[in-house]
Amino acid sequence: MDYTELFYPPRFAVGPGSIQAIADFIKEANLTCALIVTDAFLASSPVTAAVTEVLKKAGIPYYVFDRVIPNPDAATVDAAAALYAEKKCDHLIAVGGGSPIDVAKGASLVAANGGSIQHYIGLNRTVHQGAPVIAVNTTAGTGSEVTQAFVLTDREKHTKAVSIDHHCLVAFAVSDPYLMQDLPAEVTAATGMDALSHAVEAYCAVNHNPFTDGLALQSVSLVDRSFLTVLEEPRDLDGRTDMCWAAALAGYAFSNSGLGLIHSIGFQLENICPLPHGQAVGLFMPYVMDFHRQIIPERIADLGVACGFSDQSLAAKQVVGHFYGLVRAAKIPTLREVGFSAADIPALAAMAMTDPTLATNTVQPTVEEVEEIIESAYCDDLR
Ligand SMILES: [Fe+2]
Repeated sequence: MDYTELFYPPRFAVGPGSIQAIADFIKEANLTCALIVTDAFLASSPVTAAVTEVLKKAGIPYYVFDRVIPNPDAATVDAAAALYAEKKCDHLIAVGGGSPIDVAKGASLVAANGGSIQHYIGLNRTVHQGAPVIAVNTTAGTGSEVTQAFVLTDREKHTKAVSIDHHCLVAFAVSDPYLMQDLPAEVTAATGMDALSHAVEAYCAVNHNPFTDGLALQSVSLVDRSFLTVLEEPRDLDGRTDMCWAAALAGYAFSNSGLGLIHSIGFQLENICPLPHGQAVGLFMPYVMDFHRQIIPERIADLGVACGFSDQSLAAKQVVGHFYGLVRAAKIPTLREVGFSAADIPALAAMAMTDPTLATNTVQPTVEEVEEIIESAYCDDLR
């Protein structure tokens, strides 16, 4: 059999004011008590206040779990699930970027399947659909609000585990650009680069299909149109709305096609040098694209055409240079600047070869080729 099954959230509200839609969703679904899952900073921010205002107006009681940490671990997920059970909640509202949404998705699996999230790390390990999750996005990048994946860090082993489970797809996602107007530039930059890298990897992935191709190309076009705008004008609502769409489309795309070598190296770099995920993938993106330009030149060229480079024969090289320019404009630090040592190149390459995201890369590179890519990034040497 050679068919493709698509996975994506059943409902998604995008655009200014979409936060208001969560009250309608909760009432239509006959839900009665929410657990808000967020971090300590966001818990006291206007973003969470906007969510609780909607809940109060609609008469929906809620509790708050505000102990999400960056790069969350299994203990955080289990703690959220324990509070959910103790307070007899019947749905979760994630408020945040990737970390709170990932924790809420994991806790929803524990709520419906019992035990600890440790039992469900891997590929489709649960039996029951998770408890309903509403994901209120505060950044435009991770795509966690639309994917069937969650990422947990094991701090003792210094590893990250990507789990995929269609039972953790959120019930309702919200991307409201009003909530993103005060994002720090560094977060806007890193999450925007994450969204772009998702679109690039989805388009180049071995499992790409017509659904993911269309989404990925449109996502690239939107990033090209509005990424620099929101860096320069953080309160530009049209630009923020474009980035909401770009992140969502890229999330839909990679959740259904897979990722690739940019994330294989990026995830593993995060285990060596703690840095924001968007920075880790952004700094490798042009170099991995340049490597792929030798293997799938037509598809890299398509990404260039999506950015307005009209000559297909030149577009592949042009888009690699163009994205390198976006990475620089985003002030993504270089490998040297994050404290990475050239002596660690062989180790990082070996770790990247074991990363599960490599399975869907367009080609299986040799470890020597991955070392060359990392070395090019280290030397800031784009051909
Ligand atoms: Fe990512």
